[in-house]
Amino acid sequence: MRRELFDIPEGVIYLDGNSLGAPPKHVAERMQEVVKHQWGTRLIRSWSEGWWEAPQRVGDRVGRLIGAAPGQVVVGDSTSVNVYKALMGAVKGTERTEIVCDESTFPTDGYIAQSVASLTGLKIRAAHPSSLDLTEDTAVVLLNQVDYRTGALHDMKALTEQAHAVGAQVVWDLCHSAGVLPIELDALQVDFAIGCTYKFLNGGPGSPAFIYVPKHRQATFENPLSGWNGHREPFGMKPSYEPDAGIARARVGTPDILSMLALDAALDVWDDVDLAELRQRGLALTALFREHVEKLTNLEVITPDQRGNQISVRCPDARNVMDELIARGVIGDHRPPDVLRFGFAPLYVTDEDAIKAAETLAEITR
Ligand SMILES: Cc1ncc(COP(=O)(O)O)c(C=O)c1O
Repeated sequence: MRRELFDIPEGVIYLDGNSLGAPPKHVAERMQEVVKHQWGTRLIRSWSEGWWEAPQRVGDRVGRLIGAAPGQVVVGDSTSVNVYKALMGAVKGTERTEIVCDESTFPTDGYIAQSVASLTGLKIRAAHPSSLDLTEDTAVVLLNQVDYRTGALHDMKALTEQAHAVGAQVVWDLCHSAGVLPIELDALQVDFAIGCTYKFLNGGPGSPAFIYVPKHRQATFENPLSGWNGHREPFGMKPSYEPDAGIARARVGTPDILSMLALDAALDVWDDVDLAELRQRGLALTALFREHVEKLTNLEVITPDQRGNQISVRCPDARNVMDELIARGVIGDHRPPDVLRFGFAPLYVTDEDAIKAAETLAEITR
């Protein structure tokens, strides 16, 4: 769709935007300006010239891509930290006894849920999104919209309704779906959502994550990490903590401004992206790749029809096969023991890339 906006070396087919998105070309130039002018010339004054509010301002830009009206998303910290904030916020004061966690989740979500369980005394139960078996004991469900290993897309509407039907809350991890398809957090009355910005949103390595706390939850949301950035009067230097009235209460400490502003610059490429159109391109690219893999190889595609922008292929010797693919200019990745993952970012992956990647995979595994 707009490959010319990205820095991808000639001859490289980049299919790992589901792990680290490619850099939009103008980010390097913007960062020069940030370092030379904002940091260099303006020095400390930059904090009151836009840096302090950046987490909320960039949060609103991410919010547009995930169906959140302004004032409900803040950018900062890592996804893992934001999982912690969201889960602790969700279980605060509950008399319910269990946290349900997607059993196939990316490990960090499960690890953090275990920490929350051991700190709060709730039990943790792993369940597949297709059979959650929620009850009135369930305080919160932690789910991924797109599975990091298989690329399976889970039904956010149905699963959110399922949680709400028993009075449970739901925390959605959008790491593999933000920048992939239209998401309607407000319309679906999602309780909390978190996600990273370094995959399909192209924010750069380790760029700050986001957390969504809808307006109606903000007054009661207790951030378990009561850092000074979330205080209602951060420069009042008060000895006791009083949270900000709005989304800023989800902030913790001094934001990583360089990473934040690299993300801010990267989001420029998203300004006029029509997410419904992007979704169609993503589906077309993944269908094309799957069709060619199935035609040219004996490998099993494990990604179901309901999917994100990823095709996963079961392949013996996955590590060596991926090393060889990379040596031939096709960059994807693998997850143990035997899964090759290929991400299709429609902003910079073309039909030709999808076909050539499948042909190269066939040559290597023939
Ligand atoms: C679903 C999911 N959650 C969380 C993370 C990572 O969390 P963090 O940004 O804290 O490293 C990943 C990273 O790939 C992920 O795929």
